[in-house]
Amino acid sequence: MSDDIGVWFVGARGSVATTAVVGALAIRSGLAEPIGCVADLPELAVAGAPGLDRLVFGGHDVVEVPLAKRADLLAADGVLPPYLPAALATELAATDAELRPGVRAGDPDQRAQIDRIAADLSAFRERHGLARVVVVDVSSTEPPVPPDPAHESLAALDAALDAGLAPLPPSSRYAYAAFQAGCPFVAFTPSAGPRLPALAELAQNHAVPWCGSDGKTGETLIKTALAPVFASRALRVLSWSGVNLLGGGDGATLGDPTHVQSKIDSKARGLEAILGHRVDGPLHIDNVPDLGEWKTAWDHVHFAGFLGTRMTMQFTWAGCDSALAAPLVLDLVRLLARVHETGRGGPVAELAFFFKDPVATDEHRLATQVDMLVALAASLGAV
Ligand SMILES: NC(=O)c1ccc[n+]([C@@H]2O[C@H](COP(=O)([O-])OP(=O)(O)OC[C@H]3O[C@@H](n4cnc5c(N)ncnc54)[C@H](O)[C@@H]3O)[C@@H](O)[C@H]2O)c1
Repeated sequence: MSDDIGVWFVGARGSVATTAVVGALAIRSGLAEPIGCVADLPELAVAGAPGLDRLVFGGHDVVEVPLAKRADLLAADGVLPPYLPAALATELAATDAELRPGVRAGDPDQRAQIDRIAADLSAFRERHGLARVVVVDVSSTEPPVPPDPAHESLAALDAALDAGLAPLPPSSRYAYAAFQAGCPFVAFTPSAGPRLPALAELAQNHAVPWCGSDGKTGETLIKTALAPVFASRALRVLSWSGVNLLGGGDGATLGDPTHVQSKIDSKARGLEAILGHRVDGPLHIDNVPDLGEWKTAWDHVHFAGFLGTRMTMQFTWAGCDSALAAPLVLDLVRLLARVHETGRGGPVAELAFFFKDPVATDEHRLATQVDMLVALAASLGAV
């Protein structure tokens, strides 16, 4: 067995996964610098996380577009430097050979699917003699999951699966399979994934660490840095409205009113926790196809100061979503692999820094999340 780490993307042919694969290959070949990667900052490097040169990539997707073609499209859209896809053609072809067909919402026999996904993960680990495989969900956002008694305990979930019922959305089938195969899981989307109580129980049983949900990459990142200013100065935020315009595959998915609700819910969570009271303000997410991989957000904050005097703060954010998300995905893989190596299982609240809707904590303030992450790194370094 080598000490290499497997990275298994659910949604492996999407923008975020492709950008992460191309980015990691480019950095370790000396073709790019690790800008935006935090795991090598001195205060986090003490964790002893595995380097990018130790990562081996594979994954599932429900489409078959070759990874090299996806990389070409991202380069044409300006997400990737134009010379990279050709320079990394051999490595991208090797990664393509590690991609397998995924499962879809309507597919029958969920137990068989879970077993097949788990077998794909185990085979990948064995084929490359990997120390561990971290599964990262970067697939299309699913609609919110309605309450189901089968989600409440592992016994109830297993009974439903054995009875041939279909209780799980795809993201949770992947999470089930990952835990069954002993793989740590990163929920980078707002989909239910591992967050059902039954799956949290399964992760605990297998002593597998997991984290999520929904990568905090752009507007919400800035929001959770700025909102504590109002709280600490006792200024009263009256409303915080936001408009998000985006294109690409994510824009198309979120253009669907059922799918977008998961994203709106996860984006809204932090503000109330930081300010300590409910805040009015509509939050719009609109699909604008010609924006491609770029997203523009406009936030309008209306607040009251001394004697009720009204004021506003506004900011606009124009980001390339996949370029913001990809380095975080790589950081998460490296840190979660290290957590797994130390033998810790269950939700990792200290990784809240990376997420809009962090598991096992209500802490949304960015600066405090940085402190939590630095403390985690120090504790990992001491093991
Ligand atoms: N880019 C960011 O800044 C950011 C931030 C937070 C969260 N996210 C989330 O990351 C996810 C990926 O974003 P993207 O821009 O790469 O989207 P994308 O549409 O480019 O890629 C999604 C991929 O998932 C695949 N997929 C869909 N259903 C699947 C299934 N059942 N099994 C396996 N694969 C499946 C699609 O075929 C596609 O290749 C989205 O859910 C998005 O909300 C992105």
